[in-house]
Amino acid sequence: MSSERAALIVARAEELAGLSEEVGALTRRYGSQALLDALALAERWMREAGLATRRDAIGNLIGRLEGERPGLPALALGSHLDTVRDAGRWDGPLGVLLAIDQAAARSGAGDSADACPSADAGPSADAGRRRALPFALEAVVFADEEGLRFPTAYLGSHVWAGRWDAAELALTDADGVTLEAAIRAMGGDPARVGEGARNPGELLGWCEAHIEQGTRLERAGLPLAVVTTIQGQSRCTATFRGQAGHAGTTAMDARRDALLAAAEWALGVEAKGLAGDGLVATVGRLSVEPGAVNVIPGVAVASLDLRHPDDATRHAAVASLAALAQAIAASRGVTVDWAQHTDNAAVAFSPRLQELLGQAVEETTGSAAPRLASGAGHDAAPLSRSTDVSMLFVRCKGGISHNPAESVSGDDVAAAVAAVDRFVDLLAAAERSIARE
Ligand code: GLV
Ligand code: MN
Ligand code: MN
Repeated sequence: MSSERAALIVARAEELAGLSEEVGALTRRYGSQALLDALALAERWMREAGLATRRDAIGNLIGRLEGERPGLPALALGSHLDTVRDAGRWDGPLGVLLAIDQAAARSGAGDSADACPSADAGPSADAGRRRALPFALEAVVFADEEGLRFPTAYLGSHVWAGRWDAAELALTDADGVTLEAAIRAMGGDPARVGEGARNPGELLGWCEAHIEQGTRLERAGLPLAVVTTIQGQSRCTATFRGQAGHAGTTAMDARRDALLAAAEWALGVEAKGLAGDGLVATVGRLSVEPGAVNVIPGVAVASLDLRHPDDATRHAAVASLAALAQAIAASRGVTVDWAQHTDNAAVAFSPRLQELLGQAVEETTGSAAPRLASGAGHDAAPLSRSTDVSMLFVRCKGGISHNPAESVSGDDVAAAVAAVDRFVDLLAAAERSIARE
C-alpha cells in the first residue's frame, strides 16, 4: 500500500537527516564525509531494491533496473543528497527516496508493503507493476545540486548533460580546497569526470519529485502539482578591495572601506529586485577580511544569486549590477573584481511528460493537477539539454524550505508514491503503443 511505502520513506528521510557534518544542524557539502555516508546508505537501499549500482567520476550514484531487454533507454528518477547549510530533511531526499521506492516496487525485491495492493490500483495493477517495463528505470542521486561549497551548482547533472569543463577543477572553496581534491575525496577521478556524460539515446527522460518550497499547493488544498518551467539563474561574485587600516586612528573621511562598498551594492541589488517585475536577487554570502573588530575592512567578497523567467531580462540585470558595483567602488576609492560562475537558461519542461504526470496526479488524487513554475533551481535545468524533463511538486508545510523546519505529511508522500506508480504505468503504455505503430 502506498501508505506503508510512504512510512518507509518518512523513516528513511529521518535516518538521512542524522548524517551531517555539523552538530545540531543538517549540512552535507560535496566531498564531505557526511555526504559520503548518505550516499553509502542510499546505495545500500538501492541494492536491497534489486538495483545494480555504480558511481561515476564526479560522484553521482546510479542504481539501474533493466527493462524487458538489457540496455534499453532509461527513465531516470531521483534528486540530490547534498544540502544547504542548516538544511531541512526533504529538499533532495524526497526525490531520491521516491525513486528507490519506485524501483523496489517494480523489481519485486522491495518489501512486504508492495505485496499488498493499493485500493486504487487493485491486485492486477499491483502484479502489473512488477512486470518488466519497456524501458530501464534508474534511481539517481546527483552529487552536488545546491552548490554550497564551490561557486558552481548542478555539478552532477552538468556532467550528465555533457557540460563539464575541466577548468572547474581549479575552483576553490572558502578554505582554499580545490574541486579537484574534493572529487578525489568523493572517491572520483578528476581526469575522467567528462566520461560521465550521458548519450541522449541512453535516456528516455527525467522525473524528479520535490517539495514545492512555496505555498501555492497549501493554499489550494492540494497535495501535488506538475512543474512547467524553471526560471533562469545567474551566480556571480563581486570582490571589493580597499585598504585595511586602524579603526581608532584613521579619519572617517580618509578610509577606503571595502565592506561599506559591498553593503551599498547589496542595497542596490535589493532595489533592482524590488523594481524588476519578477526578478529575484539575493546577496547570500559576504566575507570580510581581515575580519577584526578594530580593523577597517580591506576586502569584502559578496555573492549574487539572480533569477528571472526571461533570460534577456536576467542578463540585462546582471550587466547593470556589475556596472553598479564598478560605480560604487569608484565613488568610494576601492576596486572591484567581478566574476560570473553560473548562467543557467530558463527551462521549459517536456509537454509529453507533463501531460502524463498530470493525468497520473488527477487519476490518483481525484483532483486537478495544478501546473506550477519553479522559482527554485533543480537538476532538471541542465538535464533539459540532453533529455525530456519533468517534475512533481509535493505540498510542504508553510512553504518553508532551506530551513530545518521543512515538513511534508506522510499522506502527501503516499499521494506522491501513488502518482509516480501511475506515471510510470502511463509512460510504459505510451511507449508500448509507439512501438506497435
Ligand atoms: C536550489 O535549491 C536553488 O534553487 O538554489
Ligand atoms: Mn535546495
Ligand atoms: Mn532540491
